[in-house]
Amino acid sequence: MNEQRPIGFIDSGVGGLTVVKEALRQLPNEAFVYLGDTARCPYGPRPAEQVVTFTRQMANFLMKQEIKLLVIACNTATAVALETIREELPIPVVGVILPGTRAAVKATTTGRIGVIGTQGTIKSHSYHRAIAAKSSQTQIFGLACPKFVPIVESNEYHSSIAKKVVAESLKPLRGKKIDTLILGCTHYPLLRPLIQNYMGPAITLIDSGAETVGEVSVLLDYFNIGNPDPANVGSCHFFTTGSTKMFDEIANDWLPVKVTSEHVDLGK
Ligand code: DGL
Repeated sequence: MNEQRPIGFIDSGVGGLTVVKEALRQLPNEAFVYLGDTARCPYGPRPAEQVVTFTRQMANFLMKQEIKLLVIACNTATAVALETIREELPIPVVGVILPGTRAAVKATTTGRIGVIGTQGTIKSHSYHRAIAAKSSQTQIFGLACPKFVPIVESNEYHSSIAKKVVAESLKPLRGKKIDTLILGCTHYPLLRPLIQNYMGPAITLIDSGAETVGEVSVLLDYFNIGNPDPANVGSCHFFTTGSTKMFDEIANDWLPVKVTSEHVDLGK
């Protein structure tokens, strides 16, 4: 294997940038290529078969960019497409659900864990199953927050509307006595200060995407495919199926590197 090849990240939009942000910090020797399917975002309300098709299209696009490992930086796609994409690709494929699960089981002291995500992720019960498989005594409270992704994708995540929507959406979790809350959608870390503020400082928030980067690091070692060549460090390429202007605005607000994305049409 050529260790200098980039690591690929896919998401329905800008959400996976929260994973890339962590990857830039934890894997500074690596090169990255990112594809956000912004034109077809959100994936959350879509039927599972369609999410599998879209995920496959994104994965195939990044395979043409000669990636050495793929991160499905989207919980909705991980929930329904991880196994299929793993079978189809000749490279390691990592999803975001198990790493978030492990971190939550480690963090909880009361065994009461909340999970917020898209309708697709919550409906799939993927977190419930993964947590129950590790810790059958744990109680899990799942909640879909369909209004969060549109707020992030429209670059409104610093606004007062965002604060109101976060408070209204998370209300059902109040009184559930959880001590740990999994941000089970990679868009949600952009709303993290508002979520933490509403839930209170005693609740541990788990960023499933950020946890995933630790696993990527382990896999690079396990398969011996890390990039040891400092001359090739830190290149990042970003692709979006939607507006490059909006993508770049959010990416440049969020990431410590300058982002100038390229438009791609996955239909072609
Ligand atoms: N960022 C995605 C996730 O982690 C999906 C958001 C969406 O497209 O609905 O689930």
